[in-house]
Amino acid sequence: MSPGPRSPTTGECPVIDLRSDTVTRPNPAMRAAMADAEVGDDVYGEDPTVRRLEEAAAARFGRQAALYCPSGVMCNQLWLRVLAPGGTEAIVEDNAHVVNYEAGAGALLGHVQFRTVPGSRGVLDPEVVAAAIRPDVFPLTPTSLVCVEQTHNRRGGAVTPLETLDRLRRLTDEAGVALYLDGARVFNAAVAAGVDVADYAALVDGLSFCTSKALSAPVGSAMVGDADAIVEARRWRRRYGGGMRQAGVIAAASLVALEQMTDRLVEDHAHARLLADAVAEVYPEGLEAGTVETNIVCIENVDAAALVEALADRGVRAGALGPSTARLVTHPDVTEDDCRRAAAALKDALADVAR
Ligand SMILES: Cc1ncc(COP(=O)(O)O)c(C=O)c1O
Repeated sequence: MSPGPRSPTTGECPVIDLRSDTVTRPNPAMRAAMADAEVGDDVYGEDPTVRRLEEAAAARFGRQAALYCPSGVMCNQLWLRVLAPGGTEAIVEDNAHVVNYEAGAGALLGHVQFRTVPGSRGVLDPEVVAAAIRPDVFPLTPTSLVCVEQTHNRRGGAVTPLETLDRLRRLTDEAGVALYLDGARVFNAAVAAGVDVADYAALVDGLSFCTSKALSAPVGSAMVGDADAIVEARRWRRRYGGGMRQAGVIAAASLVALEQMTDRLVEDHAHARLLADAVAEVYPEGLEAGTVETNIVCIENVDAAALVEALADRGVRAGALGPSTARLVTHPDVTEDDCRRAAAALKDALADVAR
């Protein structure tokens, strides 16, 4: 089947890129804002656009301060530095980004030992976490931090419910342990769960979010938390080489992301359900019913490389998360029509490879 109409000039069909929501390109409003951005030297604290973004982020999350960073990885690593002293342990879910996809930075640069625990579709079980926390009793490795990923990237965009976060807060308070939310896609969670992001932020010591994923900004993430933690994070950002000069050029796009791109995430979620319905129709064993909550669709129990190739042959790009898990992610650069075509391609490809 064809993924779409052929270009009259090249004769080629447009490829529908569902590998990740990081492939989004800045939209016209962002490009205009970037061109017009007022800038200054942000290492001197003189970039007005970066300041506006940081103030807007702090206000949106209901916290004292925010810090603009080049990437989500940097936010995670800086929060480790601020919340987890070297030689202590951070409890994370098995599939968490911070332990799987950051090239060992937590251990190498942060001197943190990760203790991975199983979750249920990426969602931490407070009882499992409570049992894993180690006290500061010599010669144990004391637990300093619990990390939650919202939504969960490798586990199909799963949302940690507010109530679970609240239970984690109470138990970490009792144990004297910090709680961090890697909210790379926290707006997807908020939209799906009907929760204000400030309600998530109120429960944690630190939070990060990315504007460079389904919010379409080309670059940029931010940390939000207490003012003194953000002062400390700024020092660490400098040490990690993340202090930027006229960063207002990119922060301008992140401001548009924050102000204009969060409510529309419901559309991406509806598009992901179109893909999930296609899988359920032809290969129900690939997807647990009701598990597509946001914009990520993970297809399990399949030869992932073969499926990715079969989809590529049909003009759809997907990713393989492992030998038997393929992933498709919806985002603003794909329309409902694209997703309907991708769903048809998916049915076709699954019929080829999944039996
Ligand atoms: C949950 C999560 N945290 C952090 C990151 C890091 O973001 P970046 O790759 O933009 O640094 C990602 C990226 O996909 C992610 O999914």
